[in-house]
Amino acid sequence: MIAIEGPGYPILVGDDPAVAVRDVLARSGAQRAIVLADRNVAGRAKLLARAAEAPLVLFKLGERRKTLRTVARALEVLLHGGADRRTLVFGAGGGVATDLFGFAASIYMRGVPFAPVATSVVAMADASIGGKTGVDFAARKNLAGTFRDPVAVLCDLGAIETLRRAQLREGLAEIVKAAVIAGEEPFGRLEALAATPLRAWPWDEVIRAAVETKCAIVAGDRLEAGRREVLNLGHTFGHAIESVAKFEIPHGSAVAIGLRAAGLLGLEQGGFAAADHARVVTLLQAIGLPVRVRGLRRRALLNAMRGDKKARDGRLRFVVPSAIGNVRFGVDASDETVERVLDAVAKPPGDGERS
Ligand SMILES: NC(=O)c1ccc[n+]([C@@H]2O[C@H](COP(=O)([O-])OP(=O)(O)OC[C@H]3O[C@@H](n4cnc5c(N)ncnc54)[C@H](O)[C@@H]3O)[C@@H](O)[C@H]2O)c1
Ligand SMILES: [Zn+2]
Repeated sequence: MIAIEGPGYPILVGDDPAVAVRDVLARSGAQRAIVLADRNVAGRAKLLARAAEAPLVLFKLGERRKTLRTVARALEVLLHGGADRRTLVFGAGGGVATDLFGFAASIYMRGVPFAPVATSVVAMADASIGGKTGVDFAARKNLAGTFRDPVAVLCDLGAIETLRRAQLREGLAEIVKAAVIAGEEPFGRLEALAATPLRAWPWDEVIRAAVETKCAIVAGDRLEAGRREVLNLGHTFGHAIESVAKFEIPHGSAVAIGLRAAGLLGLEQGGFAAADHARVVTLLQAIGLPVRVRGLRRRALLNAMRGDKKARDGRLRFVVPSAIGNVRFGVDASDETVERVLDAVAKPPGDGERS
């Protein structure tokens, strides 16, 4: 188990998080624990609950169940389980689980200690870190939520074994995003790995690099008053695609398409070199992630983007790369420009977009 210094709390990365459970419990000052988990990771959660001598409650989750209704169920479980402010809540599963259980823990009795146990690549590399919790509401991604730091984050590398290949690939979209933000070294490493079968990737290293990038950015801007917005690279488009597609396009895929869209905007807004954009598109495709989206109405996507949390006064604001390793946030773009980009991502990349 290695410990990465997070923004005020440690990120513990290892094959068996059960070994760290006692330490996390001690750190929280809590007297006892309860484990809430996605039922798809029941096996891992049982080991955790045993180590924490805690009751385990399994939930049927998924993006469509990332709702206030499921939060209400989690609150009921906490109440009936006798949880109070001296109870540490472990929330185990993918990004839906860590966001949702984190939200429930942050509002139950105005907040009880929480530790996410990330079991998907998305959750390990991104969702469980940074203290953002929440659920979807009125077809808007993460509309209801809180900022609340966990006691510690556990990344369960041992859980990777039971992830399907498609889920590993989905997670890589966030890792590519982190590498575009971080720069040449991590980006080049992903390019070198792209042809390797997903099961043979050095996940510990790849996840660690993404965790470090995220921690560095979050530490400088915990409440997203500024620079933390760069982590939304690809997400303004991505979230719009997810909600217009009624969450039938998974998050990572939507982010991959969004990364291409953000790159196209970078080309249009000046600064991003065509060769760098081509590298990003080529890497996403080499990994097997989609870079085009068909059958979604341009109007609907634009409207969804206007409802994004990052929009201000209905004006669209984007995160745009100007180089690999240099990403700007709060970039304005006219409707016409955005429409052009949306038209482009409805088609496969042209020769100029591939290296
Ligand atoms: N809070 C943040 O900063 C932040 C950042 C990025 C993403 N997110 C959120 O994360 C969510 C996406 O995360 P996700 O892709 O992990 O979604 P998810 O939690 O739905 O997990 C994807 C699928 O994998 C299953 N799963 C998880 N771990 C498994 C394992 N070890 N073995 C087998 N199956 C497993 C889940 O049950 C689910 O079916 C989105 O809702 C997104 O908004 C939040
Ligand atoms: Zn994301």
